[in-house]
Amino acid sequence: MKTFTSAGELQQVLREQKSNQKSIGYVATMGYLHEGHATLMEKARKENDIVVLSIFVNPLQFGPNEDFETYPRDLERDENVAANAGVDYLFYPTVQEMYGEEPSVKVVVQSRTDCLCGRKRPGHFDGVATVLTKFFNIILPDRAYFGKKDAQQVAVIDGLIKDFNFPIELVAVDTVREEDGLAKSSRNVYLSDGERMEAKELYQSLLKAAEAIDSGERNAAAVTALVRKHIEAHTHGLIDYIEIYQYPALKPLETLSGNIILALAVKFKHARLIDNITINIK
Ligand code: PAJ
Repeated sequence: MKTFTSAGELQQVLREQKSNQKSIGYVATMGYLHEGHATLMEKARKENDIVVLSIFVNPLQFGPNEDFETYPRDLERDENVAANAGVDYLFYPTVQEMYGEEPSVKVVVQSRTDCLCGRKRPGHFDGVATVLTKFFNIILPDRAYFGKKDAQQVAVIDGLIKDFNFPIELVAVDTVREEDGLAKSSRNVYLSDGERMEAKELYQSLLKAAEAIDSGERNAAAVTALVRKHIEAHTHGLIDYIEIYQYPALKPLETLSGNIILALAVKFKHARLIDNITINIK
């Protein structure tokens, strides 16, 4: 595996690979890699000749009171995980390399952002779409791999790829979980032991809701109330949102039908956790 910090140098190597008809799979991350990230890389490894991984904690997608400064970083450890997962090229740019002095253009996401994390984190998805536009143009991948754990992000990227005509296939990968069901996340390291025990209840609450839906519950408010009750009874976390939408359109619905997403965000002392399930109601 070779690590690049210069976009130009990476582009030069990738141009040669492209001219040799090699397909390129791309995984975007902010580092502190875990098995969720590794699963994306392994899938990219299976489906492409060349795998490119980017690690970049993108300041543009963090709000003023969010954890940009304290976001966990460990390049040496990440290089090992990436090499083991079969990554060929690791792109690890600085903020200066990505944004220079004063960026003059940014991407603004117009739909699917007035709910869930988009509503709670104003500007977040503009930052995601802007940085991915840059990475897509630098890397020119054939396929790009994203996790369903960030389901709203997948929906936004789907819009970005279509609206800007990127010739890229978006591959959405199932959420990878700890044994007790907690979705793997770089931010899980910020949970205290007690919080870590409680955090498994987030997924448990989603499973409970899925059971209720399976048994015939079709009232969206009743389902979110059930999730709220479970989380309040089993954790000390502060509920940021529990919402249900059509997926991937992210349009509201009162009576459940078709493809839906049930998503939540819960704040613990030093970590805000998100999780979701999608269900196809026949
Ligand atoms: P990050 O949180 O590092 O996640 C990188 C990718 O890994 C995303 O596609 C995310 O959905 C996926 N991922 C994270 N945890 C996962 C899990 N438990 N199972 C499956 N996939 C998982 O998401 C970002 O970074 C950034 O917003 C980024 C897209 C890199 C843009 O800056």
